Amino acid sequence: MKFTKLLSMLGAAALCGLPAPIRGAAPPDNRAGRIPTAEEITAAVAAAAAGQQPEARPASAAPPETPPTEQEPLYLGPLPPGQEAALQHEAYTLDLEDCSLCHENADPKNPGKISGPINEGCFGCHDDIQEQLDKAFAHAPAMENCTLCHNPHESMQPALLVEEPQKLCLGCHEQMKATIAAAKVKHGAVDTGDKCMNCHDPHGSDVEHLLKALPFDLCIQCHSTDDVVDHQGKRLTNFKKLLEENEEWHAPVAAKDCSACHQPHGSEHFRLLVKEYPPRFYSPYDPKLYALCFECHSDQIIADPETTTQTQFRNGSKNLHYVHVHKTSRGRTCRACHEIHAAPQRHLIRDGVPYGSRGWILKLNYTRTETGGSCARTCHKERSYDYTLDESASKPADAPAQ
Ligand code: HEC
Ligand code: HEC
Ligand code: HEC
Ligand code: HEC
Ligand code: HEC
Ligand code: HEC
Ligand code: HEC
Ligand code: HEC
Ligand code: HEC
Repeated sequence: MKFTKLLSMLGAAALCGLPAPIRGAAPPDNRAGRIPTAEEITAAVAAAAAGQQPEARPASAAPPETPPTEQEPLYLGPLPPGQEAALQHEAYTLDLEDCSLCHENADPKNPGKISGPINEGCFGCHDDIQEQLDKAFAHAPAMENCTLCHNPHESMQPALLVEEPQKLCLGCHEQMKATIAAAKVKHGAVDTGDKCMNCHDPHGSDVEHLLKALPFDLCIQCHSTDDVVDHQGKRLTNFKKLLEENEEWHAPVAAKDCSACHQPHGSEHFRLLVKEYPPRFYSPYDPKLYALCFECHSDQIIADPETTTQTQFRNGSKNLHYVHVHKTSRGRTCRACHEIHAAPQRHLIRDGVPYGSRGWILKLNYTRTETGGSCARTCHKERSYDYTLDESASKPADAPAQ
């Protein structure tokens, strides 16, 4: 089912006087390691609203469209003289005169073939890695041959790797390599610290896509301090604090799915978003610029100047979403009123919004009423709306100050 359809059904339920289902919604079950899709989140929210349990999840994810390509064969022997090893394998240095622990012959000058299947030999001492491979999701090359990534003797790289770790990963994952190279907005997570291994386990994991934890937990791990800054030096949100202090979480955040909206590897859109969303306080209105929001919400909430069904942000039939957002030049973007991740009150309405280049905070002073709400004087003098007013009785809502 399409999100928009489901959401308009949800919207319709809300308009019949039911409370919006966002709070009571049980996030989809992701204990088995799958990240719920946007569809599943929406369905789970709908199911919770209808008092049902979320549907069972499909068993496994579809493989990527373009499978990674085979690597060139690499030299896997001891390093030639002159190359200094960063690390030597203890199983190799144990006895440099006797290679028969793994090879057919003891003679270092002629060790011969490997006796028996390679991985079996490794598991003899590394049963912890074997356990990793028994998890729900195993990395195909690790199942195939440990020496696709490790030199069993010695290496100039950490962990006996045959190449610098990120180069190693991107050597096979060519599409990912292209995505990262093309990204206008880069993500420091990909090339600092443990790089790909900040988030992925190279051997196996109980979480889909070989993730070390659910995306939410990975994201929060790094984004829970006050000193992460973006490429322009702007301080980024401390998510632990934000989520603790604001109890109304946006449904996809409540479902712990940060990657419903963010591309963790790099993106062509502002803030690593998966789809377009205007970067500033003001923007001309074009539904394409809000592709991110309209992936899950109907653009009808903004489209028509008059409506009695599409949105509750209206005074009688006067659509106040239209009034504020639908402009040819200085339309207010959703952030003027909504805090996308979590907010102190219903409908994700924020207390204040950074305005202008100095980061001055504009207070909204929004107060909800049974059938609408009001905003105290900041953007404009105090205004209120009531969506139960019938059309004839509705007083015109003045255009707010520019
Ligand atoms: C811990 C197990 C282990 C030990 C001990 C070991 N090797 Fe190996 N060696 C391997 C594996 C595995 C391969 C790769 C086989 C493959 O993938 O084709 C290999 C391959 C080689 C190669 C061929 C490299 C290439 O790519 O052509 C040489 C040369 C070699 N080993 C030398 C030695 C010597 C000399 C010793 C003893 C001083 C030794 N090895 C001890 C596991 C071991
Ligand atoms: C796709 C590449 C890849 C393959 C294939 C692979 N590994 Fe690894 N392995 C890595 C990387 C990368 C690390 C470093 C982990 C880190 O930085 O967190 C690592 C680390 C290790 C370590 C160090 C301890 C640890 O858990 O971090 C051991 C032991 C190990 N691998 C054994 C194996 C064995 C045995 C196999 C075959 C079953 C294997 N690896 C296959 C990439 C690989
Ligand atoms: C005879 C036992 C033995 C065998 C067989 C063996 N290893 Fe090891 N390996 C060790 C020991 C001991 C260490 C060092 C202690 C540790 O890190 O666990 C080690 C460490 C490693 C490391 C981690 C290096 C680091 O510190 O980051 C990797 C990777 C690794 N082995 C891969 C392999 C692979 C691949 C094979 C099969 C080709 C293999 N080992 C076979 C005993 C063995
Ligand atoms: C020798 C080639 C090779 C190397 C090196 C390699 N991979 Fe893979 N990787 C694969 C293959 C093959 C698959 C399975 C693709 C599939 O599911 O069709 C895979 C799958 C994955 C997946 C799961 C994809 C999904 O859709 O669930 C992730 C994540 C991944 N690799 C990350 C890494 C990381 C991180 C590294 C570096 C440590 C790495 N790979 C190195 C070949 C490789
Ligand atoms: C290993 C640490 C680390 C992890 C894990 C991490 N981030 Fe980040 N993230 C950073 C750093 C550092 C920055 C600062 C800017 C930069 O270097 O890209 C950043 C920046 C960002 C930005 C702003 C990008 C911009 O330039 O506008 C977004 C959005 C973001 N991260 C989202 C996420 C999400 C979503 C996740 C989970 C999938 C996540 N991060 C996981 C370290 C991390
Ligand atoms: C900040 C955490 C993070 C880092 C760092 C990271 N990934 Fe991922 N990766 C994810 C998440 C979350 C997903 C699953 C969500 C998605 O589809 O985007 C994923 C999915 C993947 C996939 C499978 C889906 C696809 O889009 O093909 C591959 C392959 C992959 N990553 C490879 C890598 C490689 C290679 C690196 C290092 C260059 C890396 N990742 C670094 C978080 C990360
Ligand atoms: C419903 C979509 C959506 C989800 C889900 C989502 N984000 Fe965002 N995120 C956004 C949008 C939109 C922006 C830009 C906000 C703005 O500029 O007003 C953003 C901005 C960010 C930023 C940069 C701006 C800042 O203040 O730090 C970070 C970091 C970030 N998100 C992390 C996360 C993390 C972590 C999660 C999961 C807990 C998450 N996001 C979930 C849509 C989303
Ligand atoms: C991945 C899907 C998804 C995306 C993308 C998304 N939302 Fe949502 N959003 C939801 C779901 C599901 C709900 C909860 C259902 C409901 O109450 O209508 C929700 C609820 C809301 C609410 C609260 C409604 C209420 O009255 O309580 C607001 C406001 C909102 N979203 C704004 C946005 C904005 C602005 C964007 C774009 C930046 C956006 N959403 C992107 C899925 C999404
Ligand atoms: C001027 C402030 C303002 C702006 C700008 C704004 N909204 Fe809203 N929005 C509200 C208020 C107030 C409500 C709560 C209406 C009620 O139920 O009383 C709301 C409700 C919603 C809802 C719940 C369903 C509904 O329409 O009643 C969604 C979804 C939503 N907004 C999405 C968005 C999106 C997407 C944008 C940007 C394209 C946006 N809003 C811009 C103030 C705003």
